Amino acid sequence: MFRLDGKVALVTGAGSVGPGWGNGKATAVVLARAGARVFGIDVAAEAAAETRDIILGEGGEAVAHRADMLEAEQVEAAVAACLERFGRIDILVNNVGGSAPGGPVDMPEELWDRQIDLNLKTAFLGCKYVLPHMEAHGRGVVVNISSVAGLRMATGRVHSAYSAAKAGIISFSKSIAMGYARKGIRCNTVVPGLMHTPLVEHRLVRQLGANDAEALIARRHASVPVGHMGTGWDIAHAVLFLASEEAKYITATELVVDGGFTAAGPV
Ligand SMILES: NC(=O)c1ccc[n+]([C@@H]2O[C@H](COP(=O)([O-])OP(=O)(O)OC[C@H]3O[C@@H](n4cnc5c(N)ncnc54)[C@H](O)[C@@H]3O)[C@@H](O)[C@H]2O)c1
Repeated sequence: MFRLDGKVALVTGAGSVGPGWGNGKATAVVLARAGARVFGIDVAAEAAAETRDIILGEGGEAVAHRADMLEAEQVEAAVAACLERFGRIDILVNNVGGSAPGGPVDMPEELWDRQIDLNLKTAFLGCKYVLPHMEAHGRGVVVNISSVAGLRMATGRVHSAYSAAKAGIISFSKSIAMGYARKGIRCNTVVPGLMHTPLVEHRLVRQLGANDAEALIARRHASVPVGHMGTGWDIAHAVLFLASEEAKYITATELVVDGGFTAAGPV
């Protein structure tokens, strides 16, 4: 079940911003464990290399490629490098993203643009250069990573640009799914909830927790119906399922991985 032998997976944001397991890093490793050859892209060369070395250390096959997914030329070159190395791309995981707080009044226009680009344009560029190859071969799977911030709002905390971009990812995925439904290409979205990835210690503590990591982490655990945050592995396994043959009739939809967070009302 859920094997990807012979497949090539291109994963963007395949590193982590800190020690531990981000969603992209765990996804790259899980896809490799399922038999895929992995082409991991990250703007941080060392982060991509760390993921590659883990995969190689487990006997898998992987390449680390430094590219900024915001730069069209770099994305085009990365896709060409993947095709040159592996000759095919069966799975594209658009995982690059990250949040910055703020509403329209307090958020500088440049930050709005950066947020929309980081969370939406990166997926657009990934698809722009990978889809023609998938279409030519009549097969392929795209999985885009959104966030529960695109589905529901947190009272008293505003991330207008991030929420808009992550909601946009869901529609973007559906539009691709429609455009390519008769071409053998599926496209779905994984919607992570509150995940305990390195991002929490690395950035959210500064943004939300007044530098009190323990209190922030306890608050995040407590706000999830199952009683704790998820991890990068939970996202990775959802991506694996959607990328697998077992999900062949699943397209244009979302897989919410949130421990019940979006379904919960106020307590
Ligand atoms: N961690 C959470 O709680 C959470 C919740 C919901 C959604 N998500 C989403 O999951 C995805 C990954 O999150 P994560 O927590 O694993 O983050 P992360 O920041 O640990 O990993 C992302 C990786 O992307 C790389 N990256 C950043 N900008 C890039 C660019 N322009 N080009 C190429 N690489 C770039 C970073 O160097 C990093 O290695 C994001 O889209 C995020 O919005 C995370």
